Amino acid sequence: MPILDGRKVSKEILLKLRADVSRMEMDNITPKLCVIMVGKNPASLSYIRQKQKACAFTGIAWEQFDYETDVTTNELIDKIQELNEDDSVHGILVQLPLPEHIFTPNVIRAIDPKKDVDGFTAYNLGKMFLSTDFEDLAPCTPLGVIRMLEFYNIPIKGQEAVIVGASNIVGKPLSTMFLNRNATVTTCHIHTKDLKYHTSRADILCVGVGKPDLIKEDMVKEGVVVVDIGVNRMPDGSLQGDTDFKKINKKASYITPVPGGAGPMTVACLMENTVKAAKRINNYK
Ligand code: GUN
Repeated sequence: MPILDGRKVSKEILLKLRADVSRMEMDNITPKLCVIMVGKNPASLSYIRQKQKACAFTGIAWEQFDYETDVTTNELIDKIQELNEDDSVHGILVQLPLPEHIFTPNVIRAIDPKKDVDGFTAYNLGKMFLSTDFEDLAPCTPLGVIRMLEFYNIPIKGQEAVIVGASNIVGKPLSTMFLNRNATVTTCHIHTKDLKYHTSRADILCVGVGKPDLIKEDMVKEGVVVVDIGVNRMPDGSLQGDTDFKKINKKASYITPVPGGAGPMTVACLMENTVKAAKRINNYK
């Protein structure tokens, strides 16, 4: 069963972006990503390190703003407004989750959609609804899934795409992107009555809920393409996805490993969005 190798595909994307960035630099444009981090959530810090490394690799400038957990919603919004107005900044990312006392929708709403490289604003999410032509700054994890399938020439049109997880960051936008590409889409979530009934029908199964081994061998059909978006830190410190990789990989026609599947693709797509935003802001072809 072939592996969907997120490290390999993301490296190709990053190499292309590095060439793009060096061409832009010759025209005195350096794409710049600003990251706002609140608190010290270990998973968030680990994601941020990976994003920072990818920036260093591609030549994208990076600036990080760290806040204590007692920061207010307004302080964050003030910083975002400052970055919105700063012409040297092309991407603004607020690492989620934020502490409970922060009203996250208002923080996201403050980001200028042109600089919303996470694709989380209502403007960018709403545009995706229209068609692929309007997927300008699409959320990075769903975009990474689509890029991965495209890289391996896995057909989407007419396929049964089953998504487990309906978050605003992953499941909902991924469902929309599959629909835009003419898949037949089923979105499952915590209230789904019979998960196995749906997952067993999947030609393409994408799972991102954060429950290790949620999807077992008897829940998928022979030949399924599995994209595991789950990231679970196990008691022994290892990372594991939401699917039983060891058993399912014998049935699947393609499967992503965790780590090394969807994760690196998310980071690569963030870099892609940042370069795209920088080009658009500077009218650069
Ligand atoms: N937290 C988990 N995934 C993400 C992501 O893709 N972007 C941001 N900003 N926060 C996250």
